[in-house]
Amino acid sequence: MPITAHLPRYPLAFLPTPLHPLPRLNETLRQEFQLPAPSFQLLVKRDDQTGLATGGNKTRKLEFLVADALALGCDTLITTGATQSNHCRQTAAAAIHAGLRCELVLGGQPPESPNGNYLLDQLFGATFHWTTRENRLNRLHELAGELRAAGRRPYFITYGGSDPVGACGYALALEELREQAMALHAEPDAIVVASSSGGTQAGLVAGAWALDWDIPILGISIDETEAHLQGLVADLASQTAERLGKPRHFTPAEILVSADYLGAGYGVVGDLERTAIRLMAQTEGILLDPVYTGRAFGGLVDALRNRPDRFGKPVRSIVFWHTGGSPALFAYASDLT
Ligand SMILES: Cc1ncc(COP(=O)(O)O)c(C=O)c1O
Repeated sequence: MPITAHLPRYPLAFLPTPLHPLPRLNETLRQEFQLPAPSFQLLVKRDDQTGLATGGNKTRKLEFLVADALALGCDTLITTGATQSNHCRQTAAAAIHAGLRCELVLGGQPPESPNGNYLLDQLFGATFHWTTRENRLNRLHELAGELRAAGRRPYFITYGGSDPVGACGYALALEELREQAMALHAEPDAIVVASSSGGTQAGLVAGAWALDWDIPILGISIDETEAHLQGLVADLASQTAERLGKPRHFTPAEILVSADYLGAGYGVVGDLERTAIRLMAQTEGILLDPVYTGRAFGGLVDALRNRPDRFGKPVRSIVFWHTGGSPALFAYASDLT
């Protein structure tokens, strides 16, 4: 029985997503590190291929969030993010799939020419509400009130779908990874993932606990300090473990986070991201994204090279969890060329 078998789930994703080795990338890194083969191996878990509206990590969270919305009799999904939010794009598509409406609170100004995720949000017929980045969550609460007053039944989804309901998607994903790894005789000894609103990492951490799998899960922070993200993930992992029926209190110190790669801030593409995106594209033909996976993969390569202690123990076989985001590449064309 899957660890989430007792929880309602609305199927949205094409699962399992592939887990595969990266032979050309590994070879390139080996030459660069001058390490004798096979001293380490990177594998990739392809959650950029979850299948919903070009895929990404939010699909797994939305399977549990949409099921909850339907169980509560809601008629509209409401959520918030940046203009190029992958989460908003997948929420808009999930709403269509489930016969619900979708209203999005976006931070910033409407772009003159829609591009990337925002273009896709429009194609999915979402309704937009614009505000400042700082005011997004307030505006979302207000919107919930306005919709209720108008007789609608909104389902409130916080930043990134990162609540204990959504995070269960990643507890289940860890179980999927473990089965695939066993079939491949891969025996990964660490996972690296982009971490921002924390739900993906928290779900993986709670899943590892529920499955009794002692595997370090390193979150590369995209936009938060180490202490803040550790606290966020620890709280969310504790609540998620509770929801899984395996209660456990996680402390911030137990959560592995690196905030060494914040660069010039959220969504600002620097050399780290550019180099990582090119490296993955030109060795494996795989697209990373400019905001999350470019930064996380750049961080992973740097950690292997300069900060191996980041994993808390020696590691040989590492899964890079690809969380999607490629539609944003087009909106960042001028930063990438
Ligand atoms: C492509 C991508 N990767 C990673 C993340 C981070 O996931 P989380 O917010 O669950 O930490 C996001 C969140 O928006 C994302 O869009």
